[in-house]
Order: sequence, then C-alpha cells, then structure tokens
Amino acid sequence: MTYVVTENCINCKHADCVEVCPAEAFHEGANFLVIHPEKCIDCEICVSACPVDAIFFEANVPPEQKEFVAINAQYAHLWPVIVEKKPAMPDAEYWHGRPGRRQQLDPNPASAKESYAC
Ligand code: F3S
Repeated sequence: MTYVVTENCINCKHADCVEVCPAEAFHEGANFLVIHPEKCIDCEICVSACPVDAIFFEANVPPEQKEFVAINAQYAHLWPVIVEKKPAMPDAEYWHGRPGRRQQLDPNPASAKESYAC
C-alpha cells in the first residue's frame, strides 16, 4: 500500500507534503505532485501536512478519484524527485476546492514550467 495524491493538488501544488516526507517519495510535475508507491513508507505524515486534503491512503481514495492510484505510479517513474518546499502555484487560491481538474493535469515534469518558483 501507499499514499496517493489526488485532484485537489492539481494547479495548487502547495508542497508542504514534501517538507515532512522522510522517504523522498514525492515527484514533481508541472502542476501536480505524485507519491512513488515503492518509496512511500506509509508513515501518513503528509496527509495532515497538505492544506487542501489532497492525499489519501490508497485503500481510502474516494471512488471517483481511484484513477489517481495509477497516475501516481505512472508519473513517479517519469518526473523528478522534489525534496524541498517551494511556493504554491500562483493560482492556488483560485483553484482551491474547484472540482473537475483531472483534465488539467499537465503530463510534463516540473522543469518544463518553473517560472513561478522563487
Ligand atoms: Fe499537492 Fe497538497 Fe502536496 S496540494 S503538493 S499534495 S501539500
């Protein structure tokens, strides 16, 4: 089992989860983070660190978001590791709580759109 990042992270990417992860299990896309299922040690610390409740234990991912289990596993092998917190995305407040973001998941790695970072 592993923890899984879900839709609420898309376009927000607060990255508080990265700071608390003892396993360097987070990988960064342009507008989303994923957890590498083979690195995750199931410690659960990231769940309470995320300000938008985007992280669930694999067995508890809401039914309408089950596809994120495979999305995390897929992109963990394609995106670079992120180990330090960085600022949230500029429109994070706008996107907070808005449904229907799945189609906006950018498949590119973080380095493709780093202009917002300090
Ligand atoms: Fe995303 Fe929450 Fe981490 S918004 S980057 S899962 S703190």
